[in-house]
Amino acid sequence: MNAHQLAAPPLAAIADIAARLASADGTVANLQGILSTVQALLGAEECAIWLDEGDSLSLASRAGVESISMEEIQQALDRSEREGERIIVRRLVSGNRSMGVLVVAPTAALPSEGDAFVDTLAALVSASLAQGEQVQQLRAELGARDAQIASQRKLTEHIIDALPLGLYVIDRDYRVQVWNRNRETGWQGISRDKALGRTIFEILHRRPAEGLKKEFDDVFRSGRIQQFNIEARANADGGSGRTRTFRITKVPMRLAGSEISHVISIGEDVTDWTTAQNRFSQAEKLAAIGQLAAGVMHEINNPLATIAACAESLGLRMDDLRAAGVDVPRQAGEYLALIDGEVQRCKGIADRLLSFARPQAVRREPVDINGVVDQTLFLLKHHARFKAVQLSTILDATLPTARGNSEQLIQVLMALLINAADAMGELGTITIRTRPGVAAGEKVVMEVIDEGPGISRADLPKIFEPFYTTKPAGRGTGLGLSICYGIVTEHGGRIEVDSAVGAGSTFRVLLPEAAA
Ligand SMILES: Nc1ncnc2c1ncn2[C@@H]1O[C@H](COP(=O)(O)OP(=O)(O)OP(=O)(O)O)[C@@H](O)[C@H]1O
Ligand SMILES: [Mg+2]
Repeated sequence: MNAHQLAAPPLAAIADIAARLASADGTVANLQGILSTVQALLGAEECAIWLDEGDSLSLASRAGVESISMEEIQQALDRSEREGERIIVRRLVSGNRSMGVLVVAPTAALPSEGDAFVDTLAALVSASLAQGEQVQQLRAELGARDAQIASQRKLTEHIIDALPLGLYVIDRDYRVQVWNRNRETGWQGISRDKALGRTIFEILHRRPAEGLKKEFDDVFRSGRIQQFNIEARANADGGSGRTRTFRITKVPMRLAGSEISHVISIGEDVTDWTTAQNRFSQAEKLAAIGQLAAGVMHEINNPLATIAACAESLGLRMDDLRAAGVDVPRQAGEYLALIDGEVQRCKGIADRLLSFARPQAVRREPVDINGVVDQTLFLLKHHARFKAVQLSTILDATLPTARGNSEQLIQVLMALLINAADAMGELGTITIRTRPGVAAGEKVVMEVIDEGPGISRADLPKIFEPFYTTKPAGRGTGLGLSICYGIVTEHGGRIEVDSAVGAGSTFRVLLPEAAA
């Protein structure tokens, strides 16, 4: 190449190179093509970019033959004179910072325009490298931020999965957006793959869609948290049927703006908690009755003592009359004995009410439950409510002997029979059945089966509560079943009820046998 070939400033070439530099992202790899163009344009032996690396330089990109060494560049940089050099070296700078050098080894001396061209080129490459660094830095920052967001999301997912709650989120179209681990594995679990993206009605198809929709619409409309309990059966064990209680909380969520965009639904299994709570409140109420009883005991004991004394003196009077030859009706003595017996029982009941407050030891001895049934029926013969009622007994002769207190057990059976009679009115039969039980600690079973109207599912949990009664004032105190509950529990047994509206009721007392 000779000098006059470059006489006209290669403006077009510079414009072209500038355009390519501008569109390149400033990385050294992208500068390779530009170096080749420059090398061809100048007819140079070599055209190269070296970048600063600590105190020395390292070759980053080169076009042409390999003719320039680092030592040569270093010498050129150290010299102040530019004239007569074999190579042209230009610093690549960004602000005050040196980034490297652009080196050209022309085959012949360049005219002044050529020199200026290399200056311009160095400036353009510097700008491009600086821009490249910035792009690189931005990319790194973006990457770091992405990683941060991803790890934040992972953390949130982990927290949601770790919660001991079933949790899912639906959007305005009722489509599932989040479905946590517990919702996959818990009772009525459904896999996340199946749930995500589907509408909640397709997934929870066991619940009526209308009711479900209303629950969500209430939250969307009111913007308030809704909370309620539902009962559900498990499917995990093939629907073997144990019912669990879940507390459902539906929480409105706003993703952007004031519109509610999602609803979070949280389900918590509160079965154990509710059971414990019920037991606790039952025990608490029984204790409260005890305190109440302590108050009335005093009032009742005095009239009872009077009744007992009157009965006794009536008995003595009749003995006198008989001795005087007067014809005293035979039943009179029987009635007086009955009055005395019932007074004793009343005292016993009052005492037992007291025991709710201060549990006291009652005598426990082997009890023949069939005998308890007979004694109770004898007492009830005289009860007005049983005049019109059909009673039948199915007593198992092989029934094991129970361990307990026969007076208390008579009281239990009597309360159950009076309830059955009240429920039936004048129609139907009450059956008292005894049979050996199966489970350990429940070998003695006594049932009172009636043909009354039955008890609704909603009322069932309430009937053992003290003072819960559906009977008119003056007829029922609502204490009968709670006393039964207390007595049977004290005996180490259990009382349960099977009942449905229209199907009658069966109250079952299960007691441990005497040997155990
Ligand atoms: N066999 C039954 N059939 C239908 N409902 C019953 C039966 N036994 C009990 N109930 C219901 O349970 C409620 C509570 O019974 P509980 O024996 O505790 O009180 P009560 O009979 O109303 O009053 P009390 O026994 O103190 O005179 C009853 O009012 C009734 O509504
Ligand atoms: Mg009752």
